[in-house]
Amino acid sequence: MGFVIAIDGPAAAGKGTLSRRIAETYGFQHLDTGLTYRATAKALLDAGLPLDDEDVAERMAREVDLGGLDRSVLSRHEIGEAASRIAVMPFVRRALVEAQRRFSLREPGTVLDGRDIGTVVCPDAPVKLYVTASPEVRARRRYDEILSGGGMADFDAVFADVKKRDERDMGRADSPLKPAEDAHLLDTSEMSIEAAFQAAKSLIDAALKKD
Ligand code: CDP
Ligand code: CDP
Repeated sequence: MGFVIAIDGPAAAGKGTLSRRIAETYGFQHLDTGLTYRATAKALLDAGLPLDDEDVAERMAREVDLGGLDRSVLSRHEIGEAASRIAVMPFVRRALVEAQRRFSLREPGTVLDGRDIGTVVCPDAPVKLYVTASPEVRARRRYDEILSGGGMADFDAVFADVKKRDERDMGRADSPLKPAEDAHLLDTSEMSIEAAFQAAKSLIDAALKKD
């Protein structure tokens, strides 16, 4: 089994940015597990299927191809909303967790980011990071991203959306978002991307030495 780095945290905490940099540095493969929920949601929306039928959603989850996940085709707000709704369904989660676990076995190592990697998907991962930042900072990051992509946004609406996503992620019965007991907390509210990466790198280097 390869070396697994589990990265969890709320929306717009900086998980993806950090995960991609870590994967590049160590030559590991990266899986943004949020995309597996988004791909399932998009498949349902595209087929005009209901979002509240768990059997149908599970079937779609089993068809997700991890090789074909592309954030640019899955980034639509409507897809994120639908993903967040189907992510509360235990059968959908079970199907996607199985695929995520298979991915985590790849050599020489993998970085998985999401909400339940350290707690459910890869509880034995030798490095677990819980990346967070205040809701205001995270909403500001999302808002800036929309504007720099040429889009229009209302900060209060983005802020409300971040808080709603947090409530859904932390409040669901199956696999709620929370730090694993042995996770290292990384609050990036006042940290640059570089500083967050250096903090993560020290922890990973120390764990690799022990491995
Ligand atoms: O994957 P997740 O939703 O947790 O966040 P992300 O897409 O990696 O990051 C959201 C935005 O925050 C990106 O535009 C990053 O450039 C920015 N950011 C960051 O990731 N880390 C910091 N320490 C500061 C800003
Ligand atoms: O849309 P946002 O950037 O907040 O999240 P994402 O990482 O793209 O994930 C889409 C949805 O999938 C979120 O609403 C999460 O609740 C859910 N998700 C999950 O339940 N478990 C994971 N391991 C990853 C994402």
